[in-house]
Amino acid sequence: MELVLEKVNKLKGNIFVPGDKSISHRSLILGSIAQGETRVYNLLNSLDCQSTLECMQSLGVKIDLDINNSVHIEGKGLYGLQEPKIILDVGNSGTSIRLLTGLLSGQNFYSVLNGDNSIRKRPMKRVVQPLRLMGADIWGREEGHFAPLSIKGNKLNHFQYTLPVASAQVKSALLLAGLYTSGETVIREPLSTRDHTERMLEIMRADIKISSSEIKIKGGKELRSTDIFIPGDISSAAYFLAAAGLIRNSKITINQVGVNPTRTGIIEIFKKMGTKIDILNYQIQSNEPRADLIVECSKLKGVGIKKESIPFLIDELPLIAVIATQAYGKTLVSGARELRVKESDRIQAIVSELKKMGADIHEKEDGFMVNGPTRLKGAVCESYNDHRIAMSLAVAALLAEGKTVIRNSECINISFPRFEKILQDLIDW
Ligand code: S3P
Repeated sequence: MELVLEKVNKLKGNIFVPGDKSISHRSLILGSIAQGETRVYNLLNSLDCQSTLECMQSLGVKIDLDINNSVHIEGKGLYGLQEPKIILDVGNSGTSIRLLTGLLSGQNFYSVLNGDNSIRKRPMKRVVQPLRLMGADIWGREEGHFAPLSIKGNKLNHFQYTLPVASAQVKSALLLAGLYTSGETVIREPLSTRDHTERMLEIMRADIKISSSEIKIKGGKELRSTDIFIPGDISSAAYFLAAAGLIRNSKITINQVGVNPTRTGIIEIFKKMGTKIDILNYQIQSNEPRADLIVECSKLKGVGIKKESIPFLIDELPLIAVIATQAYGKTLVSGARELRVKESDRIQAIVSELKKMGADIHEKEDGFMVNGPTRLKGAVCESYNDHRIAMSLAVAALLAEGKTVIRNSECINISFPRFEKILQDLIDW
């Protein structure tokens, strides 16, 4: 599929974006191993979350999704999952494969996890290695570096571990495995990362203690099911925030967006660059903050983004490259080597495609540099089958002179099936 877009006059309107992807995955997994029925409201119904949902169904959990994206899960308790009869297919979803590897390590059965071409290239040793230290029996290609992963569930030991890479997926895998040990697992992170797993474990009454320096979890305690209300995904909202912040005379409101402080790096950067964003109606539901965001077009200036803030805006970095093309001065992103091992090599992908559109952007080993502002021109671009690259380029296309074609744009369905429809609703010709 190709997405064809042209320069627009302005964006106006009031929208909701679909449920948060990270929280959706966690609600499906934790709801499945809680005792009793969990109802999830506003689940993200996208390809990535469908992968997790189908994996949990293959593990014997009854999960029903209705047309309003609310889900009913009949939780099996910690020890009620069943050996899957098929290979568990995570599709394109890194969150699914890493979290499920942690979960499956502590079961009393055998399972195999596989995914698409992109998943089979992504690093798995970061999760396999600490899980092996806990006593897990996991095999994978090249000594466990790559999927498919095959897991013979085992009795796990609690341990203390400092993550070498800041990764919420690895942290969450270890917390899930920690539920299956007989003692206290202690996890430390080099930099804080998104904390949705910890927050959900808290409301499900896990034996978890969270401080600024470490997370402690005790195994063996059953989780209590609860209703989970999922806020809008700030990573999806970011595309519209950026477009409205860049296109003259635009003003939009995005309602009920998740504003967990481990995810709001993009709002901080927008503000630092000069975008006018108002945050209204702040409230907490299901242990996660949400708010309405109002954004208006403003004149922007370039910024520096360093390693410490990367985890709080990791998925928004390709979009930040687009924003930087319109900002006055230099934007330098460093300490973001992790971008090279996402759904695509996002540094290489965004630099090469924005160059085609006329941007003054340069690839760095651990980031990129952009000089702005530049007048973008329409081009034929590749998505690299990466949803975040495709949507970032869509924002660039709205600013560019002439027509932009984004090839293989169907990957947008990984995280945001209604992206194009919502965008069309906002365009004010
Ligand atoms: C995610 C964590 C991040 C992020 C990904 C979702 C999660 O990955 O990039 O899109 O839901 O835990 P890493 O843990 O690899 O940084």
